[in-house]
Amino acid sequence: MDTNVNMEKLVSLAKRRGFVFQGSEIYGGLAGTWDYGPYGVELKENIKRLWWDIFVHGRQDMYGVDAAILMNQEVWKASGHTGAGFADPLVECQKCRRRFRADHIGWTDNAGKVVHREGVKCPECSGELGGVQQFNLMFKTFVGPTSHEEYQPEGSEHDRNDNGSYSVTDLNPERHYITYDPDAISYLRPETAQGMFVNFKNVLDSLHPQLPFGMAQIGKAFRNEIAPRDFIFRTREFEQMEIEYFVREENWKESFNEWKELMLDWMYMLGLPAERVHELEVPEDERAHYSKRTVDFEFDFPFGRKELYGLAYRTDFDLKNHMEHTGVDLHYTDPATGEKLVPHVIEPTFGLDRTVLAVLASAYDEDELGGEKRTVLRLPAAIAPVRAAVFPLLKNKPELVEKAREVFNSLKKEMRVEFDDNGNIGKRYRRQDEIGTPYCVTIDFETLEDGTVTVRNRDTGAQERVSIAELASHIQEQF
Ligand code: GAP
Repeated sequence: MDTNVNMEKLVSLAKRRGFVFQGSEIYGGLAGTWDYGPYGVELKENIKRLWWDIFVHGRQDMYGVDAAILMNQEVWKASGHTGAGFADPLVECQKCRRRFRADHIGWTDNAGKVVHREGVKCPECSGELGGVQQFNLMFKTFVGPTSHEEYQPEGSEHDRNDNGSYSVTDLNPERHYITYDPDAISYLRPETAQGMFVNFKNVLDSLHPQLPFGMAQIGKAFRNEIAPRDFIFRTREFEQMEIEYFVREENWKESFNEWKELMLDWMYMLGLPAERVHELEVPEDERAHYSKRTVDFEFDFPFGRKELYGLAYRTDFDLKNHMEHTGVDLHYTDPATGEKLVPHVIEPTFGLDRTVLAVLASAYDEDELGGEKRTVLRLPAAIAPVRAAVFPLLKNKPELVEKAREVFNSLKKEMRVEFDDNGNIGKRYRRQDEIGTPYCVTIDFETLEDGTVTVRNRDTGAQERVSIAELASHIQEQF
């Protein structure tokens, strides 16, 4: 197995086969954004569904929510995200004005701390770099019709464009105004976590869960990353699958260890090889502002060992701060003893886009089958975008096409299948191998006689005859 797939090949396959495209591509793109194509969205949805099945439906102690992306700005003051805790170190070149993340260009000491390093110049133009500023990563926006940009031209109307706007070249900072109501500020959420903390009381009051219990959410998060990079690894818009697990303070260590194991089980289930997954105990000065202990799960991506997931002990930081900022009582009352307490939180967090990337990098393989070279995605069947492809052996034999359609129509009630009669069988196999389809089902003349089809296994290329009556269960059972 080729574990060292290079990024170029992976990105090329992702585009060629409709997994991931550059965001706003026909306009030249928008840095840090990617769009999922037909197979990408199926893969992503399957991962989400599996995660939800395991961590929400599969447990009695988990409560799912889907909170709004836009939240009251006070949430982010209470959570600490408007402060220095959620900012990255930024340096600007004094000559070309390009901006860089200080820790990406060598402004760090041996311990990884950002320090001004004499002699480090602009990587683009070798100009002098300015001092480090803290750049907040949240995207700010305004809610309601309360803000607008104004341009007030001097004198006459002649520099107005035909459509009534003013051209950008006319913009003069002294005549360009942005007015807004500070109360209308909101942020695109930078993590899904806070949507769960602000709904903690709602879940307590409506479902009366008992400790320990968790809340789970899957959704978009946004960060104005200084340096988005490495395909879908670091983007400005991404998805997270997060759990906030509420425990008594004295039980946090035990719960932390349990979640560590559950996270590892999840990664192995997705087909990530154990030898490419590493646990990193994050030192205190590198932990997020809310965390007393963090273990990062790193993965050997094609561009190096990088963070895939995190597991943090958030203490009672969030609930306490929300209580202080709102005056709302967020205590939990023990139903047996009447004791009131603020639960502590273990947070397993799973970046979805990084999951997709790790899954693709683990599944990608090049080998030789029947004397022919091929590229194959060895995806676990549970998350493969297409579970089986159905082919008539020959396109110009209506009786085969009709039978193949019949088989396709019956299978599609139970799983995601694809019908393909394009090109010769070999080509169809190659296409399905590249998108990771575990089975190809061929309807041939024998099918018309005895009701059996050929089922071909993606990984081994082995073929066997299976009766149509047993086809669905045969495909569901394997892998
Ligand atoms: N609620 C905790 C939290 O948000 P985080 O470590 O900042 O913690 C959690 O983010 C996960 O989200 C990361 O482990 C990673 O998988 C994913 N993630 C974070 N920033 C990302 C980005 N810019 N692009 C893609 N995924 C990102």
